Amino acid sequence: MSTTKNTQSGPNLKFVLLISAVAALGGFLSGFDTSAMSGANGFLKQRFDLGTGMLGWTVSCLIIGCTVGAAFAGTLGDRLGRKKVMIGAGVLFTAGMGFSALASSLPLFIALRMIEGLGLGLTSALGPLYNAEVAPARYRGRLVALNQLAVVSGILLGSLLSFGITGMSEASWNTSTGWRVLLGSGVVPGILFLSLLSLVPESPRWLIKHGKPEKALPILLKIHGEELARQEVLDIKASFAEEAGMGHASFKELFANKHRTILLIGVLMAVFQQITGINAIMYYAPEIFRQTGAGTSGSLTQTVFVGLTNLIFTILSLWLVDKAGRKRLILIGSAVMTLSLTVIGYAFHSGNTAGPLVLAAILIYVAAFAVSLGAVVWVILAEIFPSRIRGLATAVCTMALWAANFAVSQSFPSLLASAGPAATFWLFAGASLFAFVFTWGAVPETKGKSLDEIEAMWQEKREHKDSLKPSLQKP
Ligand code: BGC
Repeated sequence: MSTTKNTQSGPNLKFVLLISAVAALGGFLSGFDTSAMSGANGFLKQRFDLGTGMLGWTVSCLIIGCTVGAAFAGTLGDRLGRKKVMIGAGVLFTAGMGFSALASSLPLFIALRMIEGLGLGLTSALGPLYNAEVAPARYRGRLVALNQLAVVSGILLGSLLSFGITGMSEASWNTSTGWRVLLGSGVVPGILFLSLLSLVPESPRWLIKHGKPEKALPILLKIHGEELARQEVLDIKASFAEEAGMGHASFKELFANKHRTILLIGVLMAVFQQITGINAIMYYAPEIFRQTGAGTSGSLTQTVFVGLTNLIFTILSLWLVDKAGRKRLILIGSAVMTLSLTVIGYAFHSGNTAGPLVLAAILIYVAAFAVSLGAVVWVILAEIFPSRIRGLATAVCTMALWAANFAVSQSFPSLLASAGPAATFWLFAGASLFAFVFTWGAVPETKGKSLDEIEAMWQEKREHKDSLKPSLQKP
């Protein structure tokens, strides 16, 4: 992936697609871990003699690592560069996953999963951010959403592999060795990520921000072609001009009044993505299908249907996000999610779970999520913030996303047991409705705008709001 000049007049999509696909590989590993762990946890339970609480912790300690990793992603990525930190993250998650597959004791296994989580958390914030920063505006939605495509492909491959590996032999082999092979196989995409990452260029925006336009120009030329690249350098420089001599953005600056609205939008969209229940389905689908009366193999087949639906509709989302727009997709998706969750709740409430209704409603819900909140939230988080605070703000929102993921996946089993499945799914339906209303009222459309135009849009909104203030105070 050399950065020799692009002599054609438009953007060099092949090159951008390649480097964005590499940055998205971290997402693949986080999806892979989700489903490989759900395949492995029954055997881990026996191997380490785990009670329910300890099993939950063994699975979700990774999410704690992700939350912490995401929290540091902004500061590290702004200081050291996107690429260096992604390389460090790749080392952490590859080593964490590989060594955890060899761990001889539970505390060691948990500690290594947390290290893996640190790496995954860092890339979950920086991968989409990197893709947004290298993308031509017209294709930015798709290129950032590649991350989600990688996540769902990882989920699907992990579940197919776990059926393959654990179905290969008896329970005793799986308890001693099978889960190790399953988790250890994550090292392959990890090493692929690391070797390919050394070939991708640093984000040109980061280079310009750090006073290295001479290094950024060849990369921009390669991405955009002669004419647009020079314009890009000027636009990026202009958007950084106000920041000259201001040093790195601080948390104080991030939480300042002028960024309050935009930060609130980012954090809430990240939280909505999780509290609308997707990971309750992702982590516990076989269990839910079992509650509807499906046998073990039936429930596993249905889980593969869920993975396939997720993949197909994520591809649809990639195709639509730059055409239909971010806002429209989220509105349609969250409306359909609200309806399907209400139906699932109703099926459990009325005891009508034996037929295909629950499976159909779950598949519709997953499809609607994949088209909307699944892919599009990552796009929004990577593009709505002004460049000065983008690294920090994206990291804070990604941290909120992982924390909400932790809260949902931890509380779901006890919610099911105490409030029952009907109330639990209605709760998720309520959250989806709230996501719809909030998006309708507060989220601006960013389709087709360059990052600098999005920045200018916020500036205009602020100026407009400020100009209204004195006139509102007039008698
Ligand atoms: C979410 C993950 C979820 C996945 C499912 C992603 O966008 O961030 O938490 O497991 O979608 O497809």
